[in-house]
Amino acid sequence: MSDVKPLIEIRQLERTYAIGAEKVRALRGVDLTVHSNEYVAVMGHSGSGKSTLMNVLGCLDRADRGTYYLNGINTTRMSEGQLAHIRNRQIGFVFQSFELMGRLSALKNVELPLIYSNIPFWKRRRMAKDALVRVGLGGRIGHKPNQLSGGEKQRVAVARALVNQPSLLLADEPTGNLDTTTSDGIMQLFEQLYEEGQTIIMVTHEADIAARARRVVRMRDGQIVSDEGPTRQTPQQTEGVGR
Ligand SMILES: Nc1ncnc2c1ncn2[C@@H]1O[C@H](COP(=O)(O)OP(=O)(O)O)[C@@H](O)[C@H]1O
Ligand SMILES: [Mg+2]
Repeated sequence: MSDVKPLIEIRQLERTYAIGAEKVRALRGVDLTVHSNEYVAVMGHSGSGKSTLMNVLGCLDRADRGTYYLNGINTTRMSEGQLAHIRNRQIGFVFQSFELMGRLSALKNVELPLIYSNIPFWKRRRMAKDALVRVGLGGRIGHKPNQLSGGEKQRVAVARALVNQPSLLLADEPTGNLDTTTSDGIMQLFEQLYEEGQTIIMVTHEADIAARARRVVRMRDGQIVSDEGPTRQTPQQTEGVGR
């Protein structure tokens, strides 16, 4: 049991952006291993490569060097279509700016990922409703984004991210647009999801938000410069940890 397969295994990942003749090395040799049901915060100054890393982890973007195994599958040389499939099945993404469809109700927003997975209408409804209940928004399913508070919008976004039961929840500054009290509510929700077994990787530059995670990874200039807190190596080792 000493080598449980990690959920995420990244080795020497590099991502360079080219704008005209200028090159920005956003990731320069990142190694990271994350096991199922870890709760990781990624910290670092603006421009340190946090979002670039999240986008690669979420298969929204591809590294140009190194390898990324997700659930034992090498994503590095996948086609756009294969990446989209992985994204839809395995990844839930939450953004600072919520990214909801303004003209659609909370329920329809949460249903969207299910439409792409060809799930029948009645089942979609049920799954979307269940996800909204899970994030505490059972009473707001017919509301449109402009009829919801910031915290409620982010809960809708979390429900949408979870509706496909992804193996990985990624959140890039999920509380960046929220006041302290509302942020606290979202962090309580993440705690609940973590306790229910969800794997979470969250970017934040706020220390008190990062302190809610079980493990903190710090980035600087496209590299990981520290990695603190329990890493989940084997199930035996983690019994009773953080519960
Ligand atoms: N789409 C892009 N095109 C060109 N450069 C980018 C792009 N996205 C990010 N960068 C650059 O890559 C570096 C890392 O950015 P980013 O990953 O967004 O950092 P963070 O999320 O930590 O603020 C920065 O120098 C940024 O300007
Ligand atoms: Mg960013």
